[in-house]
Amino acid sequence: MAQRIDVKDLDIYYGDFHAVADVSMTIDPRSVTAFIGPSGCGKSTFLRTLNRMHEVIPGARVEGTVAMEGVDLYGDDIDPVAVRRQVGMVFQRPNPFPTMSIQENVLAGVKLVNKRISKADAADLVEQSLVGANLWNEVKDRLDKPGAGLSGGQQQRLCIARAIAVKPDVLLMDEPCSALDPISTLAIEDLIAELKQSYTIVIVTHNMQQAARVSDRTAFFNIAGTGKPGRLIEMGDTGTMFSSPTEKATEDYISGRFG
Ligand SMILES: Nc1ncnc2c1ncn2[C@@H]1O[C@H](COP(=O)(O)OP(=O)(O)O)[C@@H](O)[C@H]1O
Ligand SMILES: [Mg+2]
Repeated sequence: MAQRIDVKDLDIYYGDFHAVADVSMTIDPRSVTAFIGPSGCGKSTFLRTLNRMHEVIPGARVEGTVAMEGVDLYGDDIDPVAVRRQVGMVFQRPNPFPTMSIQENVLAGVKLVNKRISKADAADLVEQSLVGANLWNEVKDRLDKPGAGLSGGQQQRLCIARAIAVKPDVLLMDEPCSALDPISTLAIEDLIAELKQSYTIVIVTHNMQQAARVSDRTAFFNIAGTGKPGRLIEMGDTGTMFSSPTEKATEDYISGRFG
């Protein structure tokens, strides 16, 4: 089930360094939200607070709330491991486990949760997840071959299959196409368009065309200078953000005048 996320007054720190300041935003279910902005403005940092991955770095912490369907993910009784299962993540470089086969890769996350899954259920889930990631037809005859033997674009779709196999509600993607060629990039963008019917999707991208193509809403982050925290400058419907943003900094960024 796709879920709505409400972020309120979020401040993010690495030790004494205030990396991101005062973010409030709503992320809609069954839609794609793009985060754009210059390098170092805190897009990845903010993204990682949405599944409690930020705090795994020693000294890293947040203040404020991230609520999913009204439940604060940072509440006292919330298990961060359960949050990471509910909110899956796909990274910049495809990172299949190199010694595992394609099917073992798909099941890698599931096996952490449910060690006793039956062979038949596992086979069904592998197929379902690979179909869901638009990869099934390309790999169905070599499921026992190493995941590392796939092309970069296929590996990234394998990582998406691994992420959706645990049946998350939300998918976070941090520049998922930046290591891919244009054809593989389009395959991932098509896939994102399909996945948004079932998931809440957030994608960080430095590619303006990609943000315009895949997202429903866009959030622009910026940084006032080195050592200053990143801030959310403006967020809105992607069409509006790219045609008539409110803030001059947004306009300058999307028209390529900086960053
Ligand atoms: N593990 C870390 N420890 C300390 N500072 C970090 C860490 N990761 C990122 N930062 C800092 O946080 C700021 C935001 O970085 P990041 O979220 O990676 O930006 P973006 O993804 O927008 O390029 C930068 O100043 C960066 O150097
Ligand atoms: Mg980043």
